Amino acid sequence: MALTEEDLKKLPEDGLDPENPGKYQTLLEDLQGNILKGHGRDYNVHLFLQFKPDQIDAAKQWIESFAKNYLKSAKQQSDEAVRYRQEKVSGGLFANFFLSCKGYEYLEIEPFQIPTDQPFRQGMKNNNIRTSLGDPEVNTWETGFQNQIHALVLMADDDIISLLQAVNKMMQQLRLVADILHREDGFILRNQAGQIIEHFGFVDGVSQPLFLKRDIISARTKDTGFDQWDSRASLDILLAKDPNGRTEDSYGSYLVYRKLEQNVKAFRQDQEQLAKTLNIQDDLAGALIVGRFYDGTPVNLSDTPTAATTPINNFNFDNDSAGTKCPFHAHIRKTNPRGDTGKVETSPGFDEALEVERQHRIARRAVSYGTNNPTQEPETDSGLLFLCFQADIENQFNFMQTRWANAKNFVQVNVGPDPLIGQPEGTQKWPENWGQAETVDYKFKLWVNMKGGEYFFTPSISFLTTI
Ligand code: HEM
Repeated sequence: MALTEEDLKKLPEDGLDPENPGKYQTLLEDLQGNILKGHGRDYNVHLFLQFKPDQIDAAKQWIESFAKNYLKSAKQQSDEAVRYRQEKVSGGLFANFFLSCKGYEYLEIEPFQIPTDQPFRQGMKNNNIRTSLGDPEVNTWETGFQNQIHALVLMADDDIISLLQAVNKMMQQLRLVADILHREDGFILRNQAGQIIEHFGFVDGVSQPLFLKRDIISARTKDTGFDQWDSRASLDILLAKDPNGRTEDSYGSYLVYRKLEQNVKAFRQDQEQLAKTLNIQDDLAGALIVGRFYDGTPVNLSDTPTAATTPINNFNFDNDSAGTKCPFHAHIRKTNPRGDTGKVETSPGFDEALEVERQHRIARRAVSYGTNNPTQEPETDSGLLFLCFQADIENQFNFMQTRWANAKNFVQVNVGPDPLIGQPEGTQKWPENWGQAETVDYKFKLWVNMKGGEYFFTPSISFLTTI
């Protein structure tokens, strides 16, 4: 019997268990990996494709063969992880395949069988979308992204040599059916303690919605459970039915892809200037920007980093309802208000019950690009390849970027944009002293530049292998 809406809305308390999938077995076998949980490989290559004119059959053949030979399902990803834990045998090469709306159209998929999400249908270059996200004009994007993108191939491995060999082979094969419009090489950046960081130096990938039993148990043991913040999530925020799936439980997920360049040198100078203005240490200034210190310590819980090996995620902002410790503009407060928006004082329309607010969550799967030396301070050509999965782009990524990150009014009036990613930049209110009400106005400039991107759908494996 097919899964019901209820099955997607409600997961077992301990999450999905691919080792004992029960009624979710077909779903897990037909869903591409990397969606429910990141594939975790250190090196990634992203190839953006435009199929050649009048090569539909050849393109379909290539997709079919790629899907059969390279794609891994959520179930396989989990089986490989079990094997790795038991026998230390690496899963090796991992791959995903994504289609844009233009890709579906090129393949002559009937309009009613193209995934229906509105932003997906319109594409990221659409003027209304672009202006509402605050993105720069398309003619300033990197050239490859300015073209009509049909598909995205993601390949990843822990062994960079094997990965590059596999990518070269793939590029040879692809030349016959598609132009490779653009290529990105991404990797996981780490600090000296081995934690995953982004180029500004902050620990990243900490707070995620959790779907799988193993991740939920790990959060219970390594963190302090879920009584302050419940990071568990149900499948309805992540998955959408694949209209072309060949099984009754064929699902996919929408992928938002954005290349975000980070000007590290200028960010650090601005951070120093902010620290001087507030007469505080640089690391506290950084925490007031991000909401967490470099090591992941939430700034509403402490005014100094605590150097915990696993940063805490079981917290909310109830201890800081005036935003005097973690300012409302801070990146993690804007992108996950943890109940704040139900307590709105001044901006009608922004107040949402916690359950509704939680529906805006996204599953982030970003990797860094550019220099892999974390001690360098690049001004250009390094940053984040931001990828996130969701069931509904308008209600999730787009909402988060436009209604929260970019918004000047958020929970309170004149909070200012998110200093990390809010577009356009603006002035924020910063606590003159941590935990006290007086604020100082300071315009933290935007040091993240959007260089291009697209919306994709991640089709089910049964569709791609029989396309
Ligand atoms: C969390 C950095 C872009 C959404 C974080 C954290 C850092 C970070 C350091 C805290 C650690 C963690 O919880 O993982 C960055 C940088 C970006 C960027 C440097 C750009 C270059 C974005 C974008 C979005 C976003 C574009 C979506 C609009 C989130 C979310 C969280 C987060 C949802 C988790 C918040 C929580 O649950 O506490 N980011 N981020 N980020 N970021 Fe970003």
